[in-house]
Amino acid sequence: MERRRELFGGRSAAIFALAGSAIGLGNIWRFPYMVGQTGGAAFIIIYLVCCLLLSLPIFLAEAIIGHRTQAGTFGAMEQLAPGTKWKWLGLLTVVSPLIILSYYSVVGGWSIGYLWQSVTAGFHASDIGTVSSAYERFISAPWRPLFFHTLFLLGCAAIVSAGVKSGIEKFNKISMPLLFVLIVLIMCYSIALPGASEGVAYLVKPDFSKITPSAVAAAMGQSFFSLSLGVGTILTYSSYIRRDENIFVTGLGTVAFDLMFALIAGFAIMPAVFAAGIKPGAGPGLIFETLPYIFAKMGAAAPWLSAGVAVLFFVTIVFAAFTSAISMFEVGVAYLVEQRGLSRRRATVLIFIGTWLLGAVCSLSFGPLSGVKIFGQTIFGFCDMLTSNFLMTFGGLLFVLFVGWKMDKSAVRDEFTCGGTARFNCAVFDAFWFLLRYVAPPAIVIIFLTNFLA
Ligand code: TRP
Repeated sequence: MERRRELFGGRSAAIFALAGSAIGLGNIWRFPYMVGQTGGAAFIIIYLVCCLLLSLPIFLAEAIIGHRTQAGTFGAMEQLAPGTKWKWLGLLTVVSPLIILSYYSVVGGWSIGYLWQSVTAGFHASDIGTVSSAYERFISAPWRPLFFHTLFLLGCAAIVSAGVKSGIEKFNKISMPLLFVLIVLIMCYSIALPGASEGVAYLVKPDFSKITPSAVAAAMGQSFFSLSLGVGTILTYSSYIRRDENIFVTGLGTVAFDLMFALIAGFAIMPAVFAAGIKPGAGPGLIFETLPYIFAKMGAAAPWLSAGVAVLFFVTIVFAAFTSAISMFEVGVAYLVEQRGLSRRRATVLIFIGTWLLGAVCSLSFGPLSGVKIFGQTIFGFCDMLTSNFLMTFGGLLFVLFVGWKMDKSAVRDEFTCGGTARFNCAVFDAFWFLLRYVAPPAIVIIFLTNFLA
C-alpha cells in the first residue's frame, strides 16, 4: 500500500485549507445567532478566551497526530497505538464527518437554492411571516431541495477527486481570499444602513451580567464547532502539511482567521438585523428567514444595491459551506485510498453515493418523511444532534486524552517544537501541555454534559 502522498504546497496553502474547513456555516449562521441569543459583546469576550485557551490546544492535539503520522485518522491510530482499542477512535472519526457531511450538504443545497432565487427573482416579501412560510415551503417540497443537495455534493466530489493539491488546495486558495473580501463588503453595506449603530453598539458594549455558566458552556461549544474539532478533519488535513512546517504557527494562524471571520460576520449581520427592527435573538432561522426579509425591506429604498448584496451574501454562504464540506469528504476518501487501496476516483464515487443517500433521507425528513422520529427528532435533527452534541465532543475528548496521556511526551514536544528548533514554541510548550492535560478534558466533559442536559 506504499503510495506517495500528495502534500499541500506550503504554509499559506495549509492555513487556507484548514481555515477553509473551519470557516463555514458555523461562522456566518451559528456565531451571529449565538451572540444574539447569549448577550452580545460579553459572549464575544468569553468566546475569544475559549478559542485561545481551549480550542487551540485541542486543535493542536489533532494536528500533532496527523502531522506526525502523515496518515488519515484510521492509519494514524494504527501507527501510534497498533493493535489497541484506539483503532475505534480512528474508525469513529471516519464515520462522524460523513454523517455531518450528509446533512451539511442539505443546508449547502438550500444556500444554492437561495442564491438562485436571489439571482433570478430576488426577495420581495413585505412581512417576516411571508418569508418564513416561503422558507417552510421550500425545504419541505421533496424535489427542489434534493436537486440542490445533489448539486452541492457533486461540487464537493469534483473538487476532492481532483486531488489534494490540484483540487482542495487550489479551490481553497481562491475561495478563502474571496470570502474575506465578500464578507467585508457586506459588513460595509450593513454598517452604513440607517439605524445600524444600535447593532454595532450591541456587539462592542459588553454587559458583564450576561456572563453566566451557560453562556460559557455555549461559547466553548461554539468554538469547538467552528474549528471543526473532534471529527478527524483537522487531523487529516494536517497529515498533508510538510514535515518541516511549524504546526503551532499553522494552528495559531487558522484560529486567528476563523475568529476574524466570525467577528466580521457578526458585524455584517447584527447591524442589518437592528436596522430592520428585528430582535437579535431570532435563532437558527436567521439566514434563511430574517435576512431575505431584510433584503426585501432594504430593497424598497435601494433595489439594485440590496439585490446585489443579497447575491453576494448567498455566494459567500455557498463558498464557505463548500470549503468546509470538502474537508469532511476528504476524510472518507483518505480512508478508502490509504486503508482499502482504492483509487481516489473510486473512493470519491463511493463516498458520494453514501452521503447522497443519507443526505437525501435528511432532506426528505422536512417533508414526506417528517413523521419518522428518532428520539423525538426528525432524521435531520437526529443526525445534527448526534454529531454536534455527541460525536464531536466525544471524538475531541479522546484525541485530547490520546495526545495528553497516551502519547510519549517527548514525541509531542518534538512535534510541537519542530524538533526543539522553534524557540517560541519551546517557551510555550509547558503551558500547552498543561492546558491539554488538565484544562481541556474537564472542559469538554462540561460541554458534553451541557449538551446532554439541554
Ligand atoms: N467548522 C464548520 C463551520 O464553521 C462546521 C463543522 C463542524 C465542520 N464540524 C466539522 C466542518 C467537521 C468540517 C468538518 O461551519
